[in-house]
Amino acid sequence: MQKIVIEGGARLKGEVRVSGAKNAALPILASAILGTGTSTYRNVPKLADLGTMSKLLTLLGAKVESVDREGHVLRVSTDALTTHHAPYELVKTMRASVLVLGPLVARYGQARVSLPGGCAIGARPINLHVAALEQLGAEIQHSHGYVEARAPQGLKGAQVHFERITVTGTEDVLMAAVLAQGETVISNAAREPEVQDLALLLNKMGASVEGAGTSTIRVRGVSSLHGTEHAIIPDRIEAGTFLIAAAITRGNLVVSGFIPEHVEALASKMRQAGVDVTAAGHGALRVQASLKLRATDITTEEYPGFATDLQAQYMALMTLAEGISFVSETIFENRFMHTQELARMGANIRVEGRQAIVAGVAELTGAQVIASDLRASASLVLAGLVARGETVVDRVYHIDRGYERIEEKLARVGARIERII
Ligand code: EPU
Repeated sequence: MQKIVIEGGARLKGEVRVSGAKNAALPILASAILGTGTSTYRNVPKLADLGTMSKLLTLLGAKVESVDREGHVLRVSTDALTTHHAPYELVKTMRASVLVLGPLVARYGQARVSLPGGCAIGARPINLHVAALEQLGAEIQHSHGYVEARAPQGLKGAQVHFERITVTGTEDVLMAAVLAQGETVISNAAREPEVQDLALLLNKMGASVEGAGTSTIRVRGVSSLHGTEHAIIPDRIEAGTFLIAAAITRGNLVVSGFIPEHVEALASKMRQAGVDVTAAGHGALRVQASLKLRATDITTEEYPGFATDLQAQYMALMTLAEGISFVSETIFENRFMHTQELARMGANIRVEGRQAIVAGVAELTGAQVIASDLRASASLVLAGLVARGETVVDRVYHIDRGYERIEEKLARVGARIERII
């Protein structure tokens, strides 16, 4: 199994560029099911999860081709889908596979999608996706571990209120609503930039979506959509991870090629913690960390609040801050698996329910650690960058799901890091 080996202590310097957003690219690829003709997507990150989504679309009968050598430009044609069945073998490896449910039932009046099953960070049911699609008139049954949705007469626009904010749930029902008859109003919708990017893309395909990025999205259904071209937005979580990498190594790094507004909640916490985060031209931030780090509390929230996908990485930073910080996780019930591994590196963290209490220590020491999920593995890499001696992070396939060649990007800005096979 591949491992990442880091010799801690090198300050990051120079400039690192952010790749396309995984969590925008996934629903956008799924939305190809809705249109006729071919769509071309640029700035697609080359990640294991995008490979899984491409595989799923291919299995459904779509044609997915890589246009450039790096695999950042994908051309997808879904004219000849042969099945509406998303099998367990694929869905179990990536929960976001459920994003094909809405598009399949909207375009073909039927879908059979495996229930995703357990997850390392929480239960993550899909009941809200299902309830919302039922509001649009889909008949839904659960059988043999699958969700079976039917809408032989097509979907009908409706008022859909989410009792809890869900990112992929909002995306799933938004993709279904664009082909429903009449108007749909989605309230308590997720406001994440990835939902906005999806809405922009859907409008380019001929849909009529307004209000994405706010909690109320209005959709006027259309009878058909066509292929288009679109560049995926940059990955705000990858950007945030690099900002923290610069701070934890007391470096001087420019993170470029992204939208700074998307990481405002993180940047403002980092400033409170004593890190210098400043604009560095268009689409870039510079991080300089020369002062002592101060403990700062965070509570994860839906966008524009502090992202749960940056909680583990921020906690790695707080392990070295002066004082005690409280890290509260409100989105997922089990997203503290990294705390035990950070503790093995010398961190002082106590978990009480949904809160982790982090008492800053003077240094971390390198150790062998195991990644439990994608963002947890990023936090261990960050800790390894500053720990004394060698850190070996095992199960790096988790990190490859969401970070494009992270060790190469970090090595180019001075980290002593390599992947061993
Ligand atoms: N929830 C339900 N029922 C549902 C859907 C969600 O109870 O039907 C609960 C979840 O269990 C969770 C909360 O609602 O407690 C919010 O979950 P949400 O549905 O918003 O999460 P998601 O759509 O499954 C996306 C990202 C995650 C990110 C979360 C929160 C994608 C593909 N995934 O997941 O990304 O953590 O939103 O921002 O967009 C990651 O990239 O590492 C990652 C886990």
